[in-house]
Amino acid sequence: MYKIVKKQMLKENIALMDIEAKRCAKACKIGQFVVVIIDEVGERVPLTICDFDREKGTVTIVFQTIGSSTKRLAKLNEGEYIDTFTGPLGSPSELETMSGEELRTKNIVFIGGGVGIAPIYPQLKFLHEKGIKADVILGVRNKDILIFEDELKSVAGNVYISTDDGSYGFHGNAAQYLEHLVKNEGKNYDHAVVIGPMIMMKFTTLKCKELGIKNVIVSLNSLMVDATGMCGACRVSIGGEVKFTCVDGPEFDAYKVDFDECIRRQGIYKGYEK
Ligand code: FES
Repeated sequence: MYKIVKKQMLKENIALMDIEAKRCAKACKIGQFVVVIIDEVGERVPLTICDFDREKGTVTIVFQTIGSSTKRLAKLNEGEYIDTFTGPLGSPSELETMSGEELRTKNIVFIGGGVGIAPIYPQLKFLHEKGIKADVILGVRNKDILIFEDELKSVAGNVYISTDDGSYGFHGNAAQYLEHLVKNEGKNYDHAVVIGPMIMMKFTTLKCKELGIKNVIVSLNSLMVDATGMCGACRVSIGGEVKFTCVDGPEFDAYKVDFDECIRRQGIYKGYEK
């Protein structure tokens, strides 16, 4: 059993929890994820690690209450327990494999959309601890659903915010803001990490390509069942090859991802879920 040591509703439908999971906190690396099962009838919910504290032995998750399992999870309170917290799973971020010297040669920008903003934080924190400041562009529908602004400001170089309705920051989406920064404000990036809804990752990747950004990484949030590479539910096509998001990812070279297939596969249980 895994204790919820902190719970905070960041927004009406977005929750943050610190879970006591000593072994996971000790072993996890940036870019990896966990699978949460509330109880014996709970679904397996894959969630990207949003922070960890190796000393306290806690792992932070942030999730949107969109299905029955995440709604039930959000109803639990501090001091209560969840049945299963499996992880760390998946491959660590490519940034983990680079030396400080190599990282310092790069102009890195992180682009986050919606609840995908939270998993950007540990990556920026990792760079910040190495004395590297990367830029961040956050894209949300409106100001009311923006999360992690202060946390990201504490570890990033510049934090640029865009809202679809213009209620805060740049009026437009994150891809449009990226274009504006590169074309009008002299920004020059050669490495982008994009995390957010699949459709946002697809169009932001296209914009990165148009702007000539050399390396683009996305963290895919494919449907998962076992999360150990056996069921094939998280199958994606990367450069024409079949890969499993849960063991080969979740991060992939964005220029090789077949986003249309990812989007199609994400919707296959929509009717059943309803
Ligand atoms: Fe089953 Fe990845 S979730 S193979």
